[in-house]
Amino acid sequence: MTPPNGFVIAVDGPAASGKGTLATRLGALYGLPVLDTGLLYRAVGVGLERAGGDLDDAGQAEAVARALRPEDLDDPAFRTRGAGEAASRVAVHGPVRAALLALQRGFAAQPAGAVLDGRDMGTVICPAAPAKLYVTASPEVRAERRWKQLQAQGEAVAYEDVLADIRRRDARDAGRDAAPMKPAEDAVLLDTSEMTIEQATDAARRIVEAARARWENSRPG
Ligand code: CDP
Repeated sequence: MTPPNGFVIAVDGPAASGKGTLATRLGALYGLPVLDTGLLYRAVGVGLERAGGDLDDAGQAEAVARALRPEDLDDPAFRTRGAGEAASRVAVHGPVRAALLALQRGFAAQPAGAVLDGRDMGTVICPAAPAKLYVTASPEVRAERRWKQLQAQGEAVAYEDVLADIRRRDARDAGRDAAPMKPAEDAVLLDTSEMTIEQATDAARRIVEAARARWENSRPG
């Protein structure tokens, strides 16, 4: 595959690792558009549930994915706990992933570049991205962050249940055959367990700065 012309930053990692916040901040820092690809899978999961369909039926889920338009992504219902679970169930289907490929690659191909966050940015969607981060944190830390987020959204749920969700979703996302969640070989790992968001942003910026310097040096002319 030919490398992208713009500066693409691929940010992957498990649920509630902080990758979304970091992607948003990196986008602002470099003036690049940001795509939260988890939203695509959330939209497919919620869309299928609303239509009364079966999340485990690849064909039904693929049809919803094919009909998805970027302007459909702005729905607070996609941010709920249930939407995360539905997303991870439709995300195991290869045809769903294939249906969402062109939209993601198109976003990455913007002239200046882009920031994309998800599970398979560095491995499948943008394997030639000049900057790749894999953001992790312990399941307990991630569960606490997600629990606080859900509380703030008004979704009352026990911490233990959020931790169980996270463990189940990690196992499903990493264990599936289609584009399993894993760091690309050339991704830089960033464990944010012991970091504040400011410290994590600083660390991410340093990683991306180094990648940008290498990318600029390797460009023709
Ligand atoms: O915010 P959080 O990390 O909990 O989830 P998300 O990034 O919105 O993703 C929700 C689910 O969508 C994940 O658990 C994955 O199963 C799936 N997903 C995926 O398979 N590939 C992506 N590029 C993004 C999300």
